[in-house]
Amino acid sequence: MDLKPSEVTAILRKEIEGFEAEAEQAKIGTVLQVGDGVARVFGLSDCMMSELLEFPHGVYGVALNLEEDNVGAVLLGDDTKVKEGDVVKSTGRIISVPTGKAMIGRVVNALGQAVDGRGAIDLPESEYRPIEGKAPSVTERQPVCEPMQTGIIAIDSMIPVGRGQRELIIGDRQTGKTALILDTILNQKETGGGDPENPEQVICIYVAIGQKQSTVKAVEKVLTEHGAMAYTCIVSAPASDPASMQYMAPYAGCAIGERFRDEGRHVVIFYDDLYKQAVAYRQVMLLLRRPPGREAFPGDVFNLHSRLLERAAKLSDQKGAGSLTAFPVIETQESDVSAYIPTNVISITDGQIFLEPGLFNAGVRPAVNVGISVSRVGGAAQIPIMKKVSGSLRLDLAQYRELAAFAQFGSDLDKATLDQLNRGERLVELLKQGQYTPFPAISQAMVIYAGTSGFLDQVPVTEVQRWRKEFLEFMADEHPEVETLIRESGLKFTDEVKEKIEEGIKAFNDRFLA
Ligand SMILES: Nc1ncnc2c1ncn2[C@@H]1O[C@H](COP(=O)(O)OP(=O)(O)OP(=O)(O)O)[C@@H](O)[C@H]1O
Ligand SMILES: [Mg+2]
Repeated sequence: MDLKPSEVTAILRKEIEGFEAEAEQAKIGTVLQVGDGVARVFGLSDCMMSELLEFPHGVYGVALNLEEDNVGAVLLGDDTKVKEGDVVKSTGRIISVPTGKAMIGRVVNALGQAVDGRGAIDLPESEYRPIEGKAPSVTERQPVCEPMQTGIIAIDSMIPVGRGQRELIIGDRQTGKTALILDTILNQKETGGGDPENPEQVICIYVAIGQKQSTVKAVEKVLTEHGAMAYTCIVSAPASDPASMQYMAPYAGCAIGERFRDEGRHVVIFYDDLYKQAVAYRQVMLLLRRPPGREAFPGDVFNLHSRLLERAAKLSDQKGAGSLTAFPVIETQESDVSAYIPTNVISITDGQIFLEPGLFNAGVRPAVNVGISVSRVGGAAQIPIMKKVSGSLRLDLAQYRELAAFAQFGSDLDKATLDQLNRGERLVELLKQGQYTPFPAISQAMVIYAGTSGFLDQVPVTEVQRWRKEFLEFMADEHPEVETLIRESGLKFTDEVKEKIEEGIKAFNDRFLA
């Protein structure tokens, strides 16, 4: 056989050219079927999971089901613009959102596009981060060691949260879940004066999922009025958004937070709420024909939440010691915490704040049930003075509740029981707190000390809140040296601190009770 080198080269060249053309082909597919916000696409054989797909008319989609002969994708825009037979391009990118300082003070959707009417967020590609990220590994973390102050007395004293922790807020509808979040955001002003450039300032991210637009607007308004938007970013996927956007919003918010965390900053993120996200995910997955499991949720609904919440972390010193604290919210039906999604999220998080409609309606607000609320790691991060003064608070309250239930029937109560009931009533009153009035940690410690040590026993129950307010004003105006002393002694409850606080309380009581 005689071979001509020029012929071989020609054949090879032809083959190579042909191969390239084929590879190009694989990046383009056609729509087989579209409707209800999902599309099946034929011909995208190289598609990646969560890859962004480009449909005609500027509609984007995300590949969520990779099957043998087609790709199932959710559409992120108007699905009426997409028709059968349309060309679909795969972009080769995992879906990502813009991150960085430009996001602070803005309201964005699940794709990171501004929805607050204050102009587009124009950032280069390098500022984008994929919304799905890998959680930090064991070696990249360190134990939770700094407090995440919520400014809510009942929480900071008995259910303390540490930076990097995941604490669930769980309760029925209209029990003050969002109110708790707002107060926590407002309280972060304490950390760095509300200046996002200050490295001490905690950055807040509020992810609103499946809520009314008016509720999101109201949240933004409250935050703006209190100057809290200066260090907050809102990711909004309201009920009117497609289910796919509601499903992705928490990941987008998390990616925005992680950027700050990785730069050594402290971030707190609120997912309000993850039950609605699970419902949106269920909708998308049923439409994509994934097999339904318990309560018709797809089999991987546990992973939906665990991979999100695992991204909350306190990073090691080598990694910059930043932190991302997560407060997921779950709305329950009839306080049923043993339903599928609530038990899942309870098992993933490091504790829960349980809000009870009974307490809420009885006027105990915030309606935290301290009996069944826990924080499994935050105690290690509590400031020393708070740890000391609140040590007996939980127990006192538990005993009070037990006695109160019992005393409903009895008439002849001995003095010790009556005293305990008296004290309990005042402690309950002390833990009540109106909206938008977070308390600094030192103020909290002083009033709790007064309550648990019996200095409030003579104050009428109805006057306890006035006492708290006026006492704190008195200490700030007339004895500012006490707070200075507490700070100087490293936030510890030394004998000297104790003496000074007691002196202050006595001086104030003389005036108040006179
Ligand atoms: N500490 C409080 N003191 C007084 N009012 C409060 C307090 N907390 C919440 N509220 C009021 O209770 C109502 C319900 O609060 P909020 O909207 O925070 O509840 P939610 O659990 O988030 O409700 P939803 O289930 O609708 O999301 C609001 O009108 C709010 O102003
Ligand atoms: Mg709410």
